[in-house]
Amino acid sequence: MVNRVDIGVIGGSGFYSLLDDAEEIDVATPYGPPSDKVTVGRIGGRAVAFIPRHGRDHGFPPHRIPYRANLWALRSLGVRQVLAPSAVGSLRAELGPGALVVPDQLIDRTSGRIQTFYDAGGAVHVSFADPYCPDGRAAAVSVASASGWDVSDGGTLVVIEGPRFSTRAESKWFASMGCSIVGMTGFPESVLARELALCYTSMSLVTDHDAGVETGEGVTHEEVMAFFAANVERMRSLVEQVVKALPEERACACGNALDGIKLPFELP
Ligand code: ADE
Repeated sequence: MVNRVDIGVIGGSGFYSLLDDAEEIDVATPYGPPSDKVTVGRIGGRAVAFIPRHGRDHGFPPHRIPYRANLWALRSLGVRQVLAPSAVGSLRAELGPGALVVPDQLIDRTSGRIQTFYDAGGAVHVSFADPYCPDGRAAAVSVASASGWDVSDGGTLVVIEGPRFSTRAESKWFASMGCSIVGMTGFPESVLARELALCYTSMSLVTDHDAGVETGEGVTHEEVMAFFAANVERMRSLVEQVVKALPEERACACGNALDGIKLPFELP
């Protein structure tokens, strides 16, 4: 049995066997149940909670994921640092399938997703200029490059509403705006983590060239899932090493995100 859990991983279902001494728990939240039971266990002495973002049977499409419940559940277990592996498309010819991007910026092109915990009882405006944890990013980049990954330190992730993929024109437009990767789940997950003063690090695995890239023929669901499945072991081992490299005590500013702000309720 694990007591205090500090690290959360929100990932694909191939990540289960990541954890030793794993225990599955039902966590209730004011926002309903999370995507699935939370698996709590250990990686190299660090207590970790894992949630499969889409649910274990992939039942939640990106626009239906219970993002608030997932983040709330993790925080209520003690989690303060979140790693978020995900599949993304590349908007750059030179960034091919198999590359790992640790983005430092994002552009939100989702619509209609609830993106705040604070929608009643007063206004709460968190800073989001730098959406990702600098220390989590540094750990992910250094571990990935030491393990031989083709890793990009930084880059802008554009998050689309989905569930459809982008048109060629949209894809070219995103690239012309300076985005390097495109995905469907990186928002509002990241901002909800910030609203709970959590560290959040995206580890984005390129599974395809998006439709607007010269070499891209248009993306299919099968292509993305097959590539992710073929690389899940590699990602799992990377996440495991990054967990071990995360700081025991946070020295970044993520934990101060709510300083000086009057909250309408207590955080778990
Ligand atoms: N996830 C994986 N590949 C993607 C793409 N090309 N667009 C949006 N989300 C993706």
